[in-house]
Amino acid sequence: MVSIGIDGEAVARAARLLGEGGLVAIPTETVYGLAADATNGQAVARIFEAKGRPRFNPLICHVSSVAMAERFVDIDPLSRRLIDAFWPGPLTLVLPLKENAPVHPLVTAGLSTLALRMPRGVAAEVIAMLDRPLAAPSANTSGRISATTAQAVADDLGSKVDLILDGGPCPVGLESTIVKVDGEIISLLRPGGLAAEEIEALTGLTLKRSDQRAAIEAPGMLASHYAPRAAMRLDVRELNPGEALLAFGPSRAKGAENASHHLNLSEKSDLREAAANLFDYMKRLDATGAAIIAVEPIPHEGLGEAINDRLSRAAAPRGQTIR
Ligand code: TXA
Ligand code: MG
Repeated sequence: MVSIGIDGEAVARAARLLGEGGLVAIPTETVYGLAADATNGQAVARIFEAKGRPRFNPLICHVSSVAMAERFVDIDPLSRRLIDAFWPGPLTLVLPLKENAPVHPLVTAGLSTLALRMPRGVAAEVIAMLDRPLAAPSANTSGRISATTAQAVADDLGSKVDLILDGGPCPVGLESTIVKVDGEIISLLRPGGLAAEEIEALTGLTLKRSDQRAAIEAPGMLASHYAPRAAMRLDVRELNPGEALLAFGPSRAKGAENASHHLNLSEKSDLREAAANLFDYMKRLDATGAAIIAVEPIPHEGLGEAINDRLSRAAAPRGQTIR
């Protein structure tokens, strides 16, 4: 494995490796992706091996244009409005696969739908050069915290990938929001880097949120996920001695001065800044060796919905499978 910065040569090298069935870690605006050619079954199988990911958990595919998406899926009018408004960006749509679409069934876990998004920046350049979609889950061992820097990818998966493109820290810091349109109903399958309110403002529709969504719609949504080694304690207003503190805003937790270590997701209570810092700060506090990471309350609005989703998965009992 080598880690290289991003210039024209790096993009060409990544596209060439991917065309040969390689695994390349690529920066996107959300998190680093562990990418392989979505039409090459052997390459896709390497993603599952490298991550230790269960095979029933389908992967998101990434395209560089709407025309490329249309080679693989049918796009209904409401999905098209979302695409027009939010692509490229942190929004994934689950869409019906076209018959004979050359996506390998490992990508979809045998479903008749495909999760698709168009990333910003260098990822889109690599896809355009390859001229095929890339299957890319987050570049981390399954169940662990997603990587938002090239160094985090190297620490976790370095020996298992052919190349890491270093595009610096990911600006959004949370995985994409996943939705599925059914007529005039938009279901939120995973809150993420695009706030649900933005979709609601565009469409005038309230997103459908269901407790059952994980089991039925997104088969890979495991309850325990993003797990640091330390135990996580959420909505903390009073710290116990020895705990590390993940603060938010003008930190008000009692006993904060006794925290073993202290990081603030956003002193000015900015949820975008908090999202961008979340995974990196969880990792840093975990690396201190603290037994417990106490997290201050995060408002459940805007990107706070996705932040709270990731925190509750990080705090869930370990080894638990699908809800
Ligand atoms: O931001 C992101 O979305 C990152 C970056 C790398 O693009 N990618 C990412 O991919 O998070 P991945 O493969 O880890 O996300 C998979 C999620 C799982 O929860 C899975 O269940 C859901 O997408 N999913 C994939 N295909 C699906 C489908 N056909 N129907 C419903 N859910 C699907
Ligand atoms: Mg992931």
